[in-house]
Amino acid sequence: MRETILVLDFGSQYTQLIARRIRELGVYSEIRPFNTSLENILKASPKAIILSGGPASVWDEDAPSINPEILFIGIPVLGICYGMQLIAHILGGEVEHSSRREFGPAELEVKDNSDIFSGIPLKIKVWMSHGDRVLRLPQGFVSIACSENSPVAAMRDERHLIFGTQFHPEVIHTEFGKEILSNFVFKVAGCRGGWTARSFVEGVIRDIRERVGKSSKVICALSGGVDSAVTALIVQRAIPDRLYCIFVDTGLLRLNEAKQVVETFRNLDLNLIHVDAGSRFLRRLQGVEDPELKRKIIGEEFIRVFEEEASRIEGVEFLAQGTLYPDVIESVSVKGPSAKIKTHHNVGGLPERMNLKLIEPLRELFKDEVREVGRELGLPSEILERHPFPGPGLAIRIIGEVTKEKLDTLRLADFIFIEEIKKAGIYNEIWQAFCVLLPVKTVGVMGDERTYENVIALRAVTSVDGMTASWSRIPYEVLERVSVRIINEVKGVNRVVYDISTKPPSTIEWE
Ligand code: XMP
Repeated sequence: MRETILVLDFGSQYTQLIARRIRELGVYSEIRPFNTSLENILKASPKAIILSGGPASVWDEDAPSINPEILFIGIPVLGICYGMQLIAHILGGEVEHSSRREFGPAELEVKDNSDIFSGIPLKIKVWMSHGDRVLRLPQGFVSIACSENSPVAAMRDERHLIFGTQFHPEVIHTEFGKEILSNFVFKVAGCRGGWTARSFVEGVIRDIRERVGKSSKVICALSGGVDSAVTALIVQRAIPDRLYCIFVDTGLLRLNEAKQVVETFRNLDLNLIHVDAGSRFLRRLQGVEDPELKRKIIGEEFIRVFEEEASRIEGVEFLAQGTLYPDVIESVSVKGPSAKIKTHHNVGGLPERMNLKLIEPLRELFKDEVREVGRELGLPSEILERHPFPGPGLAIRIIGEVTKEKLDTLRLADFIFIEEIKKAGIYNEIWQAFCVLLPVKTVGVMGDERTYENVIALRAVTSVDGMTASWSRIPYEVLERVSVRIINEVKGVNRVVYDISTKPPSTIEWE
């Protein structure tokens, strides 16, 4: 039986981090909404439960809560921040409501270094992010650590193995955070560990084999990105001769990208169908300037091309897709405005249209775990570490109508930008870097000649998940080299500018 630690999500920005940290310790961890029923929790037979933090106050009218019986099913519970306040509140302690937040580092004084604090120094720096705090403990609890602002910075009910920390052990700024979680998982909850993404994938491979059976076929849309590549490699392990990978080359990819994708995947022995559909996409994009319309056209055309190719293969019953865990977590967090900002192009909706069953080998993995599995399955680092790239490709980085000439111009400028940041050794620090071709001409002078040519905007951002981003502080010398090279080497460009907008209120892509 697989050891599982359930994390009940109260909407903290760190919830996924808790699950990732537990998995890094070698124990499988899953995130469930805070209101998961007792029955469903018992079904998962967890070794322990962690209650995450969250933005609410226990005093809010509709404060998220749990059935108190969950605390007493006989397995250890750890409440972090809001999770701890909730435990204190529902068990009769006193939580003080405060509109002032304590945010940032604080000094923790450990009063009892057994259990979760075992082997930990008596004074450590921890990361706080809370408004409310526990003032009076519920019956049966003792305070096991304090800080200047929190008389109860950690608590324990020894009899029922219920713990709480006001600080966030999952955040790297908490010293010994990993040890605290490790103590909870191994010493308190008695886990043995040994889970790895790779060993997990072995189970997935067996499942796929069983589901697909002896004769059915599977198709997979390869994009050149990590997720679809690892998906394909896993399915290939399961049913080597019955996987068909379709790579739709939209003609909207980066310089040499299509060639590289084809070579890489052929080297990995994937059964690859390369569809060179560039001219089809260009034709449909003719005269189109509106960003949403571009996205819609590209999405539709992609599905059309994919369907045509798939229909040539007989006996296809399954579609493999690279859905990741963050996409399937039933999150309770407030995700910001729900209005549609951009239509994301993907193959969603395809399985129903084509009457295919879905295979999603990565649906329980985080991105860094997918990379780890990919590395072990032999994916080269260019693909593993490549910056994210949008489905509609360069079409949404050419402002205005997309033409072959503009694509060529943008591709070359983009190649130079990426080459220079790789040379400077900063590629992996940047979430995403690319060029945008503007439909703006400006005056310049080259030699004695007046020029009147286009502008390239450089965009480079740092981000954790693409949801928010800030512009990368690329050293001036690197920016200078990029600018000089683009203006000298790319015909039709005489000016380079750097985009210094954060997301929000801007977005990462320009369209
Ligand atoms: P924005 O521009 O919304 O982008 O800040 C956030 C992240 O999403 C990527 N992106 C896309 N990815 N299909 C994708 O697969 C799309 O249509 C799409 N549009 C944007 C973008 O590159 C960034 O990483």
